[in-house]
Amino acid sequence: MLDNASDLVVGPVFDTVDIGLVVLDSHCCIVGWNEWIARVSRRKARDVLGKTLLEVFPEVQHTRLTEVIDDSFRAGSSSILTHTLNELLPLQGESGEPLLHNIVVRPVSTVHASYCLLQITDVTVAVTRERVLRERQNARYHAIVDSAPDAIVTIDDNRNIQWVNGAVDDVLGYSHAELLGQQIDILLEPGSPLLQALAQTSVDSKAENAISVVGRHKHGKSGYFDVSLGHWRADQRNFVTTIWRDVTERMEADAALRDARDALQKSNEELESRVDERTREREIALQQLHESQKMESIGQLTGGVAHDFNNLLAVILGSLSLLKKAVPDNPRVSRLLDRAILGAERGATLTTRLLAFARRQELKVEFVALQKLIPEMLDFLRHSVGPNVVIHIEILPEVCAVEVDANQLELALINLAVNARDAMPQGGTLTIACHNENHGTRVGLPRDPFVCITVTDTGEGMSAATLARAQEPFFTTKGVGKGTGLGLSMVQGFTAQSGGAMRIGSEPGKGTKVTLWLPRAKESSAAAREETQPIQPAEARSLRVLLVDDDILVSMGAADMLLDLGHSVTEAQSGSYALKVLESDGPFDVVVTDYAMPGMNGFELAQRIKAGHPRLPIVLATGYAELPADRSIEFGHLSKPYTSKDLAAALEKALVARRP
Ligand SMILES: Nc1ncnc2c1ncn2[C@@H]1O[C@H](COP(=O)(O)OP(=O)(O)OP(=O)(O)O)[C@@H](O)[C@H]1O
Ligand SMILES: [Mg+2]
Repeated sequence: MLDNASDLVVGPVFDTVDIGLVVLDSHCCIVGWNEWIARVSRRKARDVLGKTLLEVFPEVQHTRLTEVIDDSFRAGSSSILTHTLNELLPLQGESGEPLLHNIVVRPVSTVHASYCLLQITDVTVAVTRERVLRERQNARYHAIVDSAPDAIVTIDDNRNIQWVNGAVDDVLGYSHAELLGQQIDILLEPGSPLLQALAQTSVDSKAENAISVVGRHKHGKSGYFDVSLGHWRADQRNFVTTIWRDVTERMEADAALRDARDALQKSNEELESRVDERTREREIALQQLHESQKMESIGQLTGGVAHDFNNLLAVILGSLSLLKKAVPDNPRVSRLLDRAILGAERGATLTTRLLAFARRQELKVEFVALQKLIPEMLDFLRHSVGPNVVIHIEILPEVCAVEVDANQLELALINLAVNARDAMPQGGTLTIACHNENHGTRVGLPRDPFVCITVTDTGEGMSAATLARAQEPFFTTKGVGKGTGLGLSMVQGFTAQSGGAMRIGSEPGKGTKVTLWLPRAKESSAAAREETQPIQPAEARSLRVLLVDDDILVSMGAADMLLDLGHSVTEAQSGSYALKVLESDGPFDVVVTDYAMPGMNGFELAQRIKAGHPRLPIVLATGYAELPADRSIEFGHLSKPYTSKDLAAALEKALVARRP
């Protein structure tokens, strides 16, 4: 509806449009008021026309509306006032609800005057639609955020927590209420990289990859998280939304995988080093095998030579002792004979060492208590090493007895003591110690219990090259005529033949330690030893002796000794001939036979004789240790080379044994 006076009469259009139209003149009096505004303001045109806008709506006095109307008249400017930012007119919808509206203010000029047009638009529908849309959007957003498995924490620019999602409870152990208003720092370790990232990034920063942090759970437990940051701005304020993905399990799995990989690598390395070690051990074993095969060959050769040499010495010694008896009154001849006997005896000692190295000597294995044997040798040892060497003996009472040939053991210890003396020309200390040792496997021996005797000196020691060859027969560093190089060979052969071993440790300037591994005596052998009865001497009488030896020289020597002892002798040069003589020429009181003979050996012969003549005493003469183990039970025994005294003793023992 329009004022009749107005120039702005445009007919019914003014009242028909679906927006509010208000026209003000330059005095701000209402000159145009259409139907739409009349309806929503509940004021008819006739009531308002001619009145100022302030008179109709006093509440707009201090609002921007009066300002922009003013601007429109003064400066001819147009403005839009929206309901969201401004207080506008008190308009109402059909049901009396406040009507949300925007107002466009623009100047209107005619030929006669200037006016201001207010265009009022109802935005209720648009706003409602927008609100519904926003609410739907919010609902969707909350549904997503609250169902997310990751914790989502939004902070303001003071790092204060403004908002959290439902997952914080599960992920970090805090309820909403406990976190809101707190600083995000309570979820982090001091100096956490997340705090640095928050300080260094802003809304304008490019989105970064997630940051790996250690997060603190409510109850002090820590966990690993990948945290993504999203900066945003609202109402002039900065916010950061942090999304916390718990990667503890993944990190732990990674760590376990890393550990497993490390362990695998380590075990691979161990395996490799074990293979290397095994290869080295194998090489050493092969070297040792080669060495022992070499020794075996030298041993066989040496043993053969020594055996033959032994037979010759037996003849020489036998003949010399008979000769000595034959010329008792000539001191000069006697002296010469003594010297010859001494020389032959030294030769016999040498062959004994050779046989020891070749492991072919006859061992009289017996129960040996080291607590007794070693102290008893002390005087002799002192004599052997001289006054410059101090001897220490360390044998505890619990050290067990050993089962070896006592004489050979003494000889071995003397050899070692003499070596020690030679290594300590300025004097020093020689220590002989004993201990029980269970693990023979350490030196390649079976698992039986052993006793170790260590002979240690403080001498000059050996170079690696000397140490490598020290046990070889005839190896000596002592110069021609001074050392035979058979000392250690003898000791080595003796321990090996006794079922033990010898090991040498030595370094130049640090002395030498030789360890003898000897088999421990069984309890039963001690008891058996105690039961052994002393032999009663047989009556002195002339015997018929059948003497069997393939070596004529040896046979003649032995026959001379027997004759000298007052016996009668029949000689046979082979086993088969001896059996014939036994049948054709018998009976005999005793048979003395060599062991090593071609064809039938002495032991076979003895068994054949025993089968036909069970009560006939038999004596086996041998330089070898290769007789069957139980021979000593069945037959008498004589070690070569022997003297006439040894022969007499062996005969006596054999006769006593067969005595009914
Ligand atoms: N205790 C030791 N200290 C230093 N070197 C030693 C020792 N024992 C042995 N040897 C070295 O080993 C070599 C061989 O010793 P072995 O006893 O077999 O022969 P030998 O002593 O030379 O001669 P033999 O013992 O026949 O008189 C010696 O020449 C010496 O070089
Ligand atoms: Mg020696």
